Amino acid sequence: MTARLIDGRMLSHRLRANMARRIAVLAETGVTPGLAVLLVGEDPASAVYVGRKIKACASVGIRSHTERYPATITTEALLARITELNAAEHIHGILLQLPLPAHVDMARVLETIAVAKDVDGFHLYNVGGLVTGHTVFSPCTPYGVMKLLESEAIPIAGQNVVVVGASNIVGKPMALMLMAAGATVSICHAGTRDLAQYTIMADILVVAAGVPGLILPQMVKRGAVVIDVGINRLADGRITGDVDFAGVSARASAITPVPGGVGPMTVTMLLENTIMSAERRHG
Ligand code: GUN
Repeated sequence: MTARLIDGRMLSHRLRANMARRIAVLAETGVTPGLAVLLVGEDPASAVYVGRKIKACASVGIRSHTERYPATITTEALLARITELNAAEHIHGILLQLPLPAHVDMARVLETIAVAKDVDGFHLYNVGGLVTGHTVFSPCTPYGVMKLLESEAIPIAGQNVVVVGASNIVGKPMALMLMAAGATVSICHAGTRDLAQYTIMADILVVAAGVPGLILPQMVKRGAVVIDVGINRLADGRITGDVDFAGVSARASAITPVPGGVGPMTVTMLLENTIMSAERRHG
């Protein structure tokens, strides 16, 4: 078997074309969706991600800007700026790029972002909404994975799904969203003993561990759908996922590439959440 490629770039392109139309409708009422992106410190990967988000906003007509702050910024100074952005009429989404420097009280800062502008879905209220089925904003990466599965008409209800990785940004919300869609979900993580014993059971395997080459062909059930959320930079500069792509492609029925799979969808769902926020306020 050679796996079908699940193309996140193509789906992103399709979804973004539709977003541009929605923004044109908002424009008729004098509204342009606005996103503020806060970048703290000098993490090079974060700077690249933020750059992509800003560029994507421009491509559909969202007005966005980056606010760069030094790694020495205090929690209080960040809270004060977020409070201003919460009150700003032209801002519909506030995104605080993670990770933050260790001295910043991340929980306090995330809890200060207005729930209605929390387009990353990281506020505790939004996390609670995800748990109870009253979603306000879905976190962008797992939301993007759900859209990829939907676009490929991959059934979820009743399927055995294994999520490898239990982060607050990807693994945990991913598991909740799949559970809400009726899957039987197992969550594995860095401390899981005999990972293969779980992964081999998966009809759908979602990998977000940040470990290049973690998933080998013999760990994957024949015909499984494999979603690789990993973005790892190798010593030679190449970007690779958490899955042995060539080997696993020979066993899976469908697989996302890295790059070009989940990555573009994360950015696309941020655009979706920002537009949705503007539509909720003005629609
Ligand atoms: N850092 C890594 N992924 C993300 C993300 O989706 N949102 C934010 N704000 N920071 C991140």
